[in-house]
Amino acid sequence: MHRPIAGRLVIATHNAGKLREMRELLAPYGIAAVSAGELSLAEPDETGNDFHANARIKARAAATAAQLPAFADDSGLVVDALDGAPGIQSARWAGESKDFLAAMTRIETLLQERGARAPEARTAHFVSALCVAWPDGHCEEVEGRVDGTLVWPPRGDQGFGYDPVFLPRGHARTFGEMTSREKHGLPPHGLGLSHRARAFLKLAELCLEPR
Ligand code: IMP
Repeated sequence: MHRPIAGRLVIATHNAGKLREMRELLAPYGIAAVSAGELSLAEPDETGNDFHANARIKARAAATAAQLPAFADDSGLVVDALDGAPGIQSARWAGESKDFLAAMTRIETLLQERGARAPEARTAHFVSALCVAWPDGHCEEVEGRVDGTLVWPPRGDQGFGYDPVFLPRGHARTFGEMTSREKHGLPPHGLGLSHRARAFLKLAELCLEPR
């Protein structure tokens, strides 16, 4: 049985870009969302081996600490020519200073070393695993994915993280060149474009009622 999400929800992230996107996605459902940062909740160590495990760790820690349902995303960029790197290490590749230009440059250097110049050799996808955990231990989990190719140099200054190098399949502009509305591509204008929006639409179908 899927459990409906109602009332107050903690957004279990300390990442400002993700927090903004999660608030945008929840807004049409009348959910009052408070962030883990606003509640001064500690950030748990992400010790899982995959996106789902890490999303569950973050959602469960926040639900237990706040005694409220908590919503977490674990996401990242998976580059085929790099055997799936940076994957669950996507945030860590930017280091303590969250230097995503350095992380994108590291990916590009590795792609060049492997001779990956043609778009077919530069395929990648973003993954978002979403978990909502309740204080009694119940969890709802979904996953979304968007495929594309990596461009160089980075393009656009919207979005966050690796957005400026990610060209979603079938589009001429990178996520960094799109408004957040375009990047989500939500109904009624689209069927979901970003990995986070696609995962969110699945979650909404299972657990959320439009206002
Ligand atoms: P984590 O889920 O907190 O481990 O961090 C995921 C990392 O993946 C983020 O810090 C970003 O670097 C990257 N990432 C996840 N989603 C996106 C996105 O929508 N655009 C760009 N980068 C993203």
